[in-house]
Amino acid sequence: MSKALPLRLGVNVDHVATLRNARGGKHPDPLRAALAAIEAGADGITAHLREDRRHIRDADMARLKAEISKPLNFEMAATPDMVQIALATRPHAVCLVPERREEVTTEGGLDVIGHHNTLAPFIARFNDAGIRTSLFIAADPAQIEMAAKLHAPVIEIHTGAWCDAVEAGNTAKAEAEWQRIVAGAKLAQSVGLEVHGGHGLDYATAQTISALPQIAELNIGFHLMGEALFVGLSESIRRMRAAMARGRESLEATA
Ligand code: PXP
Repeated sequence: MSKALPLRLGVNVDHVATLRNARGGKHPDPLRAALAAIEAGADGITAHLREDRRHIRDADMARLKAEISKPLNFEMAATPDMVQIALATRPHAVCLVPERREEVTTEGGLDVIGHHNTLAPFIARFNDAGIRTSLFIAADPAQIEMAAKLHAPVIEIHTGAWCDAVEAGNTAKAEAEWQRIVAGAKLAQSVGLEVHGGHGLDYATAQTISALPQIAELNIGFHLMGEALFVGLSESIRRMRAAMARGRESLEATA
């Protein structure tokens, strides 16, 4: 039997709020999407309260926390104001992401080396409050090692550069990015981190990355919501879960 961890799907509902905000009303409701996603098999819900509130708003986050039966993953910038909101909301997990250019590494993801002094007390406060911190970083060995030193329990590997290269048909770049992810996932697990992945994943890339035994969770939004326009949200989630299961099965076949 394979040693692969169970693989969770976190559904990101940000872009339901993007659509709602385009008209300024209440419809479509990200909470309704979250409940439908859970009904369809999501293991958790992710939402990003951006500093500019361009999609999810404070009231959405509060309603999600109050109403959903699965873990809430609160994505946020690493700022004192956001930390206060997250501590008051008490989600299952927070995912610290870059929102400003100077917070991003050249490979993408939060620069946890450059910002370790800011991040350390935030992570400590979340650890004390029983809220799991995930750091959204590139699969860069030095960033991964710093994430472990900061006592973050989880990293989310930024899959955006890989997915963009796959979509562009740039096979050399896609292969290089993929090898970075493979090595990064192994390193992260070896230093005690739980490994998640996300950004830009579609059915095909989700299937591929599901074959990495270290990956415990994928957080996916945009592709699921885009597909929902054509096949409905339940069906897009069902197809995503099927793609992830195929990826895991391919791993078991080679284990
Ligand atoms: N994970 C993180 C940390 C993100 O910032 C995002 C994008 O909001 C996602 C996952 C989901 O990415 P996508 O919407 O491209 O699936």
